[in-house]
Amino acid sequence: MVDAGKRVLVAGATGYVGRHVIARLHDEGFIVRAVVRDKARACAPGAYDAPALAALVDEWVIAPEGEVDLGPDVMSGVDHVISALGVTRQKADPWTIDFLLNLRFLELAEQAEVDSFLYVGVMNAASGTSAVSRAKHAFMEALSRSRVVPQIVDPSGYFSDLTEIYDLARRGMAFGLGDGSVRLSPIHGADLADFCVSRLGGSAGSWNVGGPETLTYREIVRIAFEAAGKKPRYTRVPGPFASAAVWTADRISPRAGSLTRFFLDGMQTDSVGDPHGTHTLADYYAALAR
Ligand SMILES: NC(=O)c1ccc[n+]([C@@H]2O[C@H](COP(=O)([O-])OP(=O)(O)OC[C@H]3O[C@@H](n4cnc5c(N)ncnc54)[C@H](OP(=O)(O)O)[C@@H]3O)[C@@H](O)[C@H]2O)c1
Repeated sequence: MVDAGKRVLVAGATGYVGRHVIARLHDEGFIVRAVVRDKARACAPGAYDAPALAALVDEWVIAPEGEVDLGPDVMSGVDHVISALGVTRQKADPWTIDFLLNLRFLELAEQAEVDSFLYVGVMNAASGTSAVSRAKHAFMEALSRSRVVPQIVDPSGYFSDLTEIYDLARRGMAFGLGDGSVRLSPIHGADLADFCVSRLGGSAGSWNVGGPETLTYREIVRIAFEAAGKKPRYTRVPGPFASAAVWTADRISPRAGSLTRFFLDGMQTDSVGDPHGTHTLADYYAALAR
């Protein structure tokens, strides 16, 4: 399915997933055009061991102001678009970025008649209660009706996010909602990138993608404590805490409310995709412990 030699524009290039996608595209012989806010930051290594982009990008588009910077030239000669653009820890409104800015990329891709547009969303977006899930779901709806070949990849949790569980375990702590029986299939950025790049040149579709293992939240906590060399602990947070936390966060700011909902949705809903890749969480945590 791989369409090597073609030009791929990557939005969200400086993120955990975007950086791994670019490394994979580079290895496969694609021409990589990266849209970034800050080239110096892009050229340095990313968080969670994500690759530096200095030697991996062929063409740079610097767009500090988001949509304002994007004209039709951005898409000239582009065959495929991959977007891993979204608000995670950034201070921005998800509707402006996850929906409107992705929509602007899609509009330009349609005008330039690119072959396909692959979007990295999130699993369970349709039922999610956060502003992030709503904005992502709205964009997926728009993309699925697009003239370009729409490809929607909905991943389970990333190893990057699950680093926090290891960091807590190192300090001898673990918190979880209820009995921790919710199931995930966590995925490493490199494995997700491999899946995304393997779709290029292929057909339209929508895929739930996970890593090679399905684990309960409690099992993830146990693996983290083993790697940290600490005696396992688990503090159950009672269910009613969730609504109290949302109530409080909503009164702090819309951003706090959305982040809290996103986190609590994830703690209460299984997020298991078709297995892909080779990286295990135990190996990832063991590397953190070294
Ligand atoms: N973390 C998880 O477990 C998980 C699971 C499933 C799906 N997802 C989704 O997968 C996608 C990629 O995740 P990730 O971990 O790679 O996220 P990330 O590391 O935060 O990267 C997000 C990308 O979007 C860009 N971005 C964010 N806000 C922006 C703004 N206001 N203006 C311009 N660019 C902006 C970032 O640019 P800067 O570097 O310049 O900020 C970065 O390139 C996200 O949509 C996320 O919600 C995450």
